[in-house]
Amino acid sequence: MNAPVPPAPPAPPAPPLSVEDYRRSARARLDDRVWDFVEGGAESERTVRANRRAFGRVTLRPRVLVDVSHCDTGTELLGARLRTPVAVAPTAYHRLAHPDGEAATARGAGAAGALYVVSMYASRTLEDIAAEAAGPLWIQLYWLRRREVLAALVDRAAAAGCRAVVLTVDAPRLGRRHRDARNAFAIGPGVRAANLDPALMASAHRPDTGRSALAAHAAQAVDPSVTWSDLAWLRERSGLPLVLKGVLTAQDAVLAVRHGADAIVVSNHGGRQLDGAPASLDALAEVVDAVAGACPVLVDGGVRGGTDVFAALALGARAVLLGRPVLWGLAADGAEGVAGVLRLTTEELEHTMALAGRPDLASIDGSAAVLRADG
Ligand code: FNR
Ligand code: LAC
Repeated sequence: MNAPVPPAPPAPPAPPLSVEDYRRSARARLDDRVWDFVEGGAESERTVRANRRAFGRVTLRPRVLVDVSHCDTGTELLGARLRTPVAVAPTAYHRLAHPDGEAATARGAGAAGALYVVSMYASRTLEDIAAEAAGPLWIQLYWLRRREVLAALVDRAAAAGCRAVVLTVDAPRLGRRHRDARNAFAIGPGVRAANLDPALMASAHRPDTGRSALAAHAAQAVDPSVTWSDLAWLRERSGLPLVLKGVLTAQDAVLAVRHGADAIVVSNHGGRQLDGAPASLDALAEVVDAVAGACPVLVDGGVRGGTDVFAALALGARAVLLGRPVLWGLAADGAEGVAGVLRLTTEELEHTMALAGRPDLASIDGSAAVLRADG
C-alpha cells in the first residue's frame, strides 16, 4: 500500500548544458598538439587566465517587476540585422578541428543567426564558405608584406560577399607560445590556408624543433612596419567598412576613430599575443569611453556563457566574439556543434536578461553590471 513511488524512467542523454560540456567533448576528440594550439597562449599564459578571471569580478544588478515575457536578443551591426550579439571570432585552420572546416562553421553560424568573422588562415576557400553561409560574413586579415597578395585577397573576399574587413593589429609577429614551441607545432599536409598561395605558406608546414612553424611563417610573411597611416590604403582598396581588432587602450581607440575605423574589437587575441596585456573586459570601459559612441565596440576573450555576454554588453560592448568555444563546438559536432555553442550562449543571455529585468539589448546599460577592480 505504501510502496514507494518508482522513479521516473531514465531520461535520454542530456544535451550539452554549458559551453564547458563542448570543451570536454572537444578535448576527447582532438590530437594533443592541436589541443595545445587551440587552448594555449603566450608565455606564462597569465593573460589567458586574466580574461576568465575578469568575468568572475562582475556582479549583475537585476531590476524587478519588469515585463520580461518576451526578451529580444536581436541587434544591428554595420547595417546587418542579427538575431544575437554573439559572433564567431576569426580563428585559423578549422579543418584541424573538423574535416568540413569553415564550411561547417558557416552553416552553424547561419543556423544560429550569428555573424561569422572568417580568418585569413581559413582552411576552406572563401567561395566554399560563402556558399554555406546563411548570415553575414566579415573577412579578417593580417597585413602581409606582399601587398598585392593582400589586395587580391580583399577583392576575393568582397566578391564572395564579405561585408567588412577586420584588420588584426595585435600581431606584428606571433606571441611566444611555449606549448607550440615544445610541440614543434606545424600544420599537417592535409590542412592548408586555402585562400593563400602555397609558396607563401610553406614555412607553416615545416616542423622545427623547439619552434612553432606558424610563428616562423608569421615572421616571414607579416609586415611588422605597418602604422596608422597605412590604413587609408586598405580602406580605399576594399571599399568595405574597416574594423580594427586588438585595441586595448584609450589612446589607440582615439587614433582608431581618427583614422576612420568603422568598429573596434577590444581583444588580446585570447591571451595568445602580449603576455601581461590586460584582460579584455578590464580594457573595455576605457575604450568605450574614449570612442564616445563614434563607432561600435566589440569585445572578445574569455566569454564562456550568457552571463559573460550580458556583462560585456553592460560594460559597453555592442557584440562579443567567441574564439575557442566555437572550435570546441566544431570539434565536438561539426556544424551542429557550432550552432549549439552559439544557440546555447544566446539562450543563456536571453535567460539572464529575463532574470535581470532587461528585456532588450538597449536596456542592458551601465547600471546592469559592476566590474570590481583587479587585486
Ligand atoms: C585565434 N585568434 C585569431 N585571431 C585573428 O585575428 N586571426 C586568426 O587567424 C586567429 N586564429 C586563432 C586561432 C586559435 C586556435 C585561437 C584560439 C584564436 C584569436 C581570436 O580571434 C580571438 O581573439 C580569441 O580566440 C578570443 O578569445 P577566446 O574566446 O578564445 O577566449
Ligand atoms: C593564432 C594566429 C593564427 O592566434 O592568429 O594562432
